[in-house]
Amino acid sequence: MTLTGRRILLGISGGIAAYKSPELVRRLRDAGAEVRVVMTAGAEAFITPLTLQAVSGHRVRTHLLDPEAEAGMGHIELARWAEDIVIAPATAQVVAKLAHGFADDLLSTLVLASQARLWVAPAMNRLMWDAEPVRANVDQLVRGGARLLGPDRGEQACGEHGAGRMQEPDVIVSAMAGASERSRPLVGKRFVVTAGPTHEPLDPVRFLGNRSSGRMGFAVARMLVEAGATVDLVAGPVNLPTPPGVQRVDVVTAREMLEAVNRCIDAADGFVAVAAVADYRPEHEATDKLKKSGEPVTMHLVENPDILATVGHRQTRPFVVGFAAETRDLETSARSKLSAKGADLIAANRVGHELGFDREDNALEVFSAHRHWSLGPRSKCQLARELVDIIAGEMKARER
Ligand code: CTP
Repeated sequence: MTLTGRRILLGISGGIAAYKSPELVRRLRDAGAEVRVVMTAGAEAFITPLTLQAVSGHRVRTHLLDPEAEAGMGHIELARWAEDIVIAPATAQVVAKLAHGFADDLLSTLVLASQARLWVAPAMNRLMWDAEPVRANVDQLVRGGARLLGPDRGEQACGEHGAGRMQEPDVIVSAMAGASERSRPLVGKRFVVTAGPTHEPLDPVRFLGNRSSGRMGFAVARMLVEAGATVDLVAGPVNLPTPPGVQRVDVVTAREMLEAVNRCIDAADGFVAVAAVADYRPEHEATDKLKKSGEPVTMHLVENPDILATVGHRQTRPFVVGFAAETRDLETSARSKLSAKGADLIAANRVGHELGFDREDNALEVFSAHRHWSLGPRSKCQLARELVDIIAGEMKARER
């Protein structure tokens, strides 16, 4: 098992188990990973940054507001760089901070600013590990998508015996490598994903559009890449960075989006239509800015091409996933879209209340002809990961 080419950020917090960290860095590098290290102030009481610099081959970061370090790889860049963040050892204090979204040092800030997979290897006294607030914080982290490594049972540095020892470096490395192999079920598959809104021009300064942020589509593209797929992302006007490894084409209107999809769909094994495409566009785009006349205005709108249905009704078509934004009769509407649009899966999104467009959290009801999955509410990133798992499972089932 291997971690070849994986970009791993190791966060070390202040516990005696920090003495195992250099060994963990070496094992991760032996498995092929590129490792950067961040230490909390507490960690420096147990081990020096110089040791970790020597074994990782990179400068170790310890402070959030360090102008010299920020001049190299800034902390946001570092957060984006990481594909996995592993915190080992993770003290009760760090677990509490991460569970509650604190950002008062470099490590906690990086975790908040990153979409990387989070691994937590707790290490603490057994009574602390059993303490109710610690359990609640750990539950919170795991619900948010973090993967727990250990802790092990055994003799503790404080002389007690029980659960709370940090998991051994080789066990951590094989857990990470194993998960990374299991979680790349789409190696060799090509996907096209649409994301964001479309803007349909009225005149040189105005358009018809909607409030889609594009976050869900970008998260799906990112998770498809994590699962090993090659991804072409066709994005409407959004203000989001391109996820690592994704090929992006920017478009504005529905017709441009369809053209861009048509250019890459022949080679695709899967198509995921997350974009909130404008159903209608103004029949004519004025060449000059429209002036007010003091009279009511009637605007003639014509229907846009349905990109999802166009792909879904091709003679040879990829595995097709559509989204549906519904305010009511969610299951009936979603199921009718399965056949109307020629989709294999419809991920339905309840909008209009506290969930939906332009929000961080979301919930999805996913339907195939014969099955139904309920996901969330949780972060769009976590939802996208689970949706990609379903897509991979259904594609595999069809190949059999
Ligand atoms: N879609 C598309 N092209 C369009 C309209 C929609 O590709 N012109 C895709 C969206 O990306 C999404 C799915 O169709 O995957 C569902 O769109 P939905 O929000 O349900 O809108 P409509 O299809 O217009 O259905 P309704 O009339 O219920 O709003």
